[in-house]
Amino acid sequence: MNERVAPVFRARLGDSVVGDSLDVLDTMEAETVDLVVTSPPFALLREKTYGNAAQSEYVEWLCRFAPPIRRVLKPTGSYVIDLGGAYQRGRPVRSLHKYRMLIRHVDDLGFHLAEEFFWHNPSKLPSPIEWVNKRKIRVKDTVNIIWWLGKTEWPKADVSRVLAPYSDRMKTLLKDPARFYTPKERPSGHQISSGFARDNGGAIPPNLLQFPNSESNGRYLQLCKTFGVDPHPARFPIALPDFFIRFLTDEGDLVLDIFGGSGTTGEAAERLGRRWRTIEIDPTFARGSLFRFVGDRSETDIRLLLDAVDQGRAPAIVPEQPGLFDAVG
Ligand SMILES: C[S@@+](CC[C@H](N)C(=O)[O-])C[C@H]1O[C@@H](n2cnc3c(N)ncnc32)[C@H](O)[C@@H]1O
Repeated sequence: MNERVAPVFRARLGDSVVGDSLDVLDTMEAETVDLVVTSPPFALLREKTYGNAAQSEYVEWLCRFAPPIRRVLKPTGSYVIDLGGAYQRGRPVRSLHKYRMLIRHVDDLGFHLAEEFFWHNPSKLPSPIEWVNKRKIRVKDTVNIIWWLGKTEWPKADVSRVLAPYSDRMKTLLKDPARFYTPKERPSGHQISSGFARDNGGAIPPNLLQFPNSESNGRYLQLCKTFGVDPHPARFPIALPDFFIRFLTDEGDLVLDIFGGSGTTGEAAERLGRRWRTIEIDPTFARGSLFRFVGDRSETDIRLLLDAVDQGRAPAIVPEQPGLFDAVG
């Protein structure tokens, strides 16, 4: 990774960098990144109250990240972006920003839509209150769209690494295929062979991902409380980057999150043995993300690490020596 960027801290496999991603991306080498997985700030849109002008400004803003992302991605690389829904200001009419963003990325910015995913978050609260709770004219919006974009038409991917557990019915069938199943042609014309009853270790997952976003007792939140740090208000569940990192990268590959927030992507990558970098514009969020990498160190040791961050010494957390770290710089 390029050394012109000063990280806030380093973990075993990656680093957390503070800055505007547009600037940091410019310092990174071309064609080195295997996967960008990220969730942009929706707050930008909210501050501008979701007017039409604000929406097109937001789309333009998001599009500015596309050329530098394309530059740093390997030809086999993917750009995965999670986007929430929004209503237009004062009207029960949806914003089209996520579709406009997709079309710009495909028509003008050189990306290919490999597949769209839908993240169902059953723990999401109803909103906006006016349409959903008060007037009862809209249902709960519990699905985010995730665009999986390829730099080329052939981004690297391996479904066998994200197989879902078999259903109980399928497990029964696998135990004794002959009893439950005769190979034949379906009315649709599909030939279903006996290979259908082979145990592949799990089922091909659908593009509807179901992860609750209701983590309440993780180490990150616990340490935020202990050290009086406000937790990041818009985190995604670790299951989300975990899924795409396993699906789209190999061990040792480089994963990047350009809107790093609390470092969820970094934590997922570190656990999965991938190299990583998170870029976050707000230093307090980047500082808090340290909590994801301290393991079971004592409060005293974590305090020392935080002090090193605050003094700009970019500590390197040394996993082999719990409690110790190298103070770099
Ligand atoms: C929705 S949050 C990401 C949360 C993250 N996925 C997590 O789980 O913690 C988006 C983040 O992007 C950051 N951000 C906004 N503009 C940025 C920029 N130009 N460069 C880097 N980070 C930026 C915001 O400060 C915010 O923390």
